[in-house]
Amino acid sequence: MTGTIRKTALLVPVIAGILIGGPVWAQSEGPIRGEAVYQKRCLMCHGEEGDGLGPAAERLNPPPRDFTLGQFKIKTTAFKDPITNDADLIRMIGDGMPGTAMPGWSDILSEQEISDVIHYIKTFAELEEEKPSDQIDYGTQVKSSPESIATGKKIFHDGDRCSECHGAEGLGDAVKKLKNDNGERTWPRNLTKPWTYRASNDAKDIFARVTAGIPTTQMPSFTNPKSKKKLSIEDRWHVANYAASLADAGKKVRAENTVIKAVRVEGDVPTSPDDPAWQQSTSSTFFLVPQIIAKPRFFKSANDSVSVRALYNDKRLSVLIEWDDRTKSIPGDEVAIKIADKGMSPDAIAVQFPVEIPAGMEKPYFLMGSDAKPVNLWRWSSGTTEKPESVALIDAAGITNQQPRDAATSGLSAKGAYKDGTWRVAMTRLLTTSETAKDIQFAPGRFIPIAFFNWDGSNSEQGTKHTLTTWYWLLLQPEAGSKPLMAAIIVALLIGGALVWWGRSASAANKETDL
Ligand code: HEC
Ligand code: HEC
Repeated sequence: MTGTIRKTALLVPVIAGILIGGPVWAQSEGPIRGEAVYQKRCLMCHGEEGDGLGPAAERLNPPPRDFTLGQFKIKTTAFKDPITNDADLIRMIGDGMPGTAMPGWSDILSEQEISDVIHYIKTFAELEEEKPSDQIDYGTQVKSSPESIATGKKIFHDGDRCSECHGAEGLGDAVKKLKNDNGERTWPRNLTKPWTYRASNDAKDIFARVTAGIPTTQMPSFTNPKSKKKLSIEDRWHVANYAASLADAGKKVRAENTVIKAVRVEGDVPTSPDDPAWQQSTSSTFFLVPQIIAKPRFFKSANDSVSVRALYNDKRLSVLIEWDDRTKSIPGDEVAIKIADKGMSPDAIAVQFPVEIPAGMEKPYFLMGSDAKPVNLWRWSSGTTEKPESVALIDAAGITNQQPRDAATSGLSAKGAYKDGTWRVAMTRLLTTSETAKDIQFAPGRFIPIAFFNWDGSNSEQGTKHTLTTWYWLLLQPEAGSKPLMAAIIVALLIGGALVWWGRSASAANKETDL
């Protein structure tokens, strides 16, 4: 009986609220319903108290936002206005934040639920009643053009305005140690990888970031009256157009690229990463993910992908591995030490092959093989100020079972070069070796499993703390130019056929007109 009364008592204001209009309900109950959404969907990362210290937080880089600070990265209110527009929060919560663990919720939560949860997260910094006052002034957009991009490039480098942090080529490799407001390590964005932008690399978005800055981080506002590097509206459009132009689609991971096609060349294969001969093959890019299986596990990786090309001749295979790494880690080097986290190791990359090319699809265990199916690792290390770069040949049967062997007997050599935030390492080995039981023997036309391991020495990566790709395939394409040749033959046949058809129909047409 009392239960029914209670229920009815609750229902009356609810029904009244619905009848009078949604807003009453939304305003009064929003934070309460928002709290339920928060606890179910957000707490695990952002924490019970909204301080960004949820159970999953210690494994995330960058860390989840601390809502008690009341500051958000992506804002379209003016620099002097600390309050973010709800539209910005709706966007970040709906779409998620690329390059971070922050998922997009638009498929899971309704607009109302997103609005409720925003109401709730504002309560952590007592912002529920605050309203933004000053919006970004976009003026008149300067459309992107070669001239605008060139002007933007000058502004970017003038007094090291942006290059100070984003590096000469925008890869975020500048020699500076940056921390966010919570004292956590942060990195300037790699502007060549727009898919890692928290917002987007649309010029209007970049204009907004340059105008308002990215609160909680060292990305400054270039409208701050105190800044010596302040920029006019027009100049901010130019620099935004330049930053947008840095996007390099070649570094994008494409799901369809699972096979590295080694192209056969006449003459020598390149052994230097700078050889223009590499352009003969196309590059495939793969995600690097942190090693979280073997202990000690690793979660906070810095490098996110590797791009690979390959060439071969009748004697050797050469592989070029390129990856963006903001720090050149050379232990002993003063500049490197300044920017590194504690305990710097050299940077390193390893290529993994099965010792035996599988006949079917069954590959060795991806994490450095097993006793039954061992692997070869070709592990290049950037070296230290005392010890030059080197390459090791390792027989591995599991992550804890690695036996180095003389690389030279198998004809394995490697050479690396670092420039403006990118490592490029060329490795080459004989196609076949005398160690047939221990070394993989390469043969054209076979699908050969291949995988990569990467260590960023400045990010305290060494031993089992590293990133890796899954298995992909390497294919030594059988005959040099056999495909283009076939294509040429087909084209010739088609053209020939078309000519015959054209000649016939022309004569038929003539006959018709004759009639
Ligand atoms: C898997 C972990 C995870 C979950 C779950 C998660 N977030 Fe986040 N969130 C993050 C991380 C990490 C960031 C910080 C990204 C950065 O700093 O670039 C973030 C940032 C944010 C921001 C800051 C936006 C800005 O412009 O600064 C908001 C708002 C936010 N999250 C809201 C939510 C809401 C609401 C939910 C639940 C519906 C949620 N998050 C669930 C990890 C998570
Ligand atoms: C003092 C260092 C510093 C300077 C100077 C600097 N940036 Fe940044 N920038 C950063 C950091 C740090 C981030 C990443 C912030 C974060 O953690 O989300 C960033 C992020 C960005 C982003 C990414 C936006 C997004 O949606 O993710 C863009 C674009 C950008 N900066 C452009 C510029 C331009 C253009 C300039 C010069 C006008 C500039 N920056 C100057 C440190 C700097």
